[in-house]
Amino acid sequence: MHTFAYKNGTLCCEDVNLADIAAKVGTPTFVYSKKTIVDDLAELQQALAPLDAHVAYAVKACSNKAILNLMAKMGVGFDIVSGGELWRVINAGGDPGQCTYAGVAKTEPEIRYALEQGVYCINCESENELREINRIAGEMGIKAPVAVRVNPHVDAHTHKYITTGTHENKFGVDITRIEALYATIAAEMPNLHIKGLQMHIGSQLTEVEPFVKAIQKVSPIVAKFKEQYDIEFWSIGGGIGIVYDGCLASGQPEWWAARPEQITIRSYAEAIIPLLQPLGLKILIEPGRRIVGNAAVMLTRCVYEKKGEVKTFKMIDAGMNDIIRPALYEGYHEIWPVTEHQGDTITADIVGPICESGDFQAQNREIADVKPGELLAEMSAGAYGFSMASTYNSRPLAAEVLVDGDKWHIIRHRQTLEQMVQGECLPEC
Ligand code: LLP
Repeated sequence: MHTFAYKNGTLCCEDVNLADIAAKVGTPTFVYSKKTIVDDLAELQQALAPLDAHVAYAVKACSNKAILNLMAKMGVGFDIVSGGELWRVINAGGDPGQCTYAGVAKTEPEIRYALEQGVYCINCESENELREINRIAGEMGIKAPVAVRVNPHVDAHTHKYITTGTHENKFGVDITRIEALYATIAAEMPNLHIKGLQMHIGSQLTEVEPFVKAIQKVSPIVAKFKEQYDIEFWSIGGGIGIVYDGCLASGQPEWWAARPEQITIRSYAEAIIPLLQPLGLKILIEPGRRIVGNAAVMLTRCVYEKKGEVKTFKMIDAGMNDIIRPALYEGYHEIWPVTEHQGDTITADIVGPICESGDFQAQNREIADVKPGELLAEMSAGAYGFSMASTYNSRPLAAEVLVDGDKWHIIRHRQTLEQMVQGECLPEC
């Protein structure tokens, strides 16, 4: 349940008027609600309480140091996918011993760094990666904790770019080969300690059914591995979807929670608990989007309006470099005026300043007929928003703000032009 709502005609995050933040920090700016993050995480932890379940927050969704620090203080672990993410977690006060390290192309320096820091487990994606870790661990004189990501071949019914659990995807080891691979590890890789099994079938799943299917398919293997290798955990991955469409829940919490077609924490937990409980294993869950997705908006300002031959365009000061989701995944984000409008709507494209036709945040959208100078809030921008931003078109990275009740803090200053070119240099000749 998020905490963005109109109060006295102005959109607020918790008790802070978004226009105040824009006046002081400028736009575009990502504004996160601490309460939403804390509440959503607590809801998930409570719902999974009947299991020995542990959250490993997927850092890639939003990796700002302040957000990671907040997670660390709430006692969650982290699912990381690079040496850089591990460094961030440690730098933010997180415990490497609570990190699972995923990814299909880990390099030797990254593997060494992860082992030196004592990560909880390296989740591997191929036999060759396992052999490489076995070699490195041998050189370091240690046993490396590993799990393998099993690809259960279950369609997650989500966008093709974020489906990961079918034969067409680069991820994991096919379910038909996983038992043979574990036997190979046990027989041939003495520097590895088989610690668990991992899976992740995709992101932004809006139904419970693919999770259920995947768990049902893999459970018998997990039970066998518990017997054969005494595995300690099963990570069932992340992927719980959020509501992007109809996310402004001002004053309608029952309606928000009760949308029948949308996965909820409750429906997810109710479906998976009975399947997992009999295994008697530690269960890891790696949510990213569900924890931070609805917890932020991106504040932007309408710069111009243009009436084209067939369309009306509202130009804003944020581009696909700030949020790439609409361009890359046809992602849908609601767009709300910061100052409430009464009934005056228009069908328009909301487009940015980037020199690409793919640079839109909404197309053919009925929205409030905002005028140049007005502020807009792009909703549900907390996950894969800033973390996927770039400086394309030499646009400095946006600012980030964390709201806590009636207080707010800058958690990332807007990048300066000098910072944007830092590291670039002329050839020495
Ligand atoms: N675990 C693994 C191994 C993953 O690859 C991911 C996401 C997660 C957990 C977290 O998934 P979540 O709970 O956030 O769905 N940029 C895309 C999403 C990419 C997801 C990549 N992997 C988007 O904006 O929709």
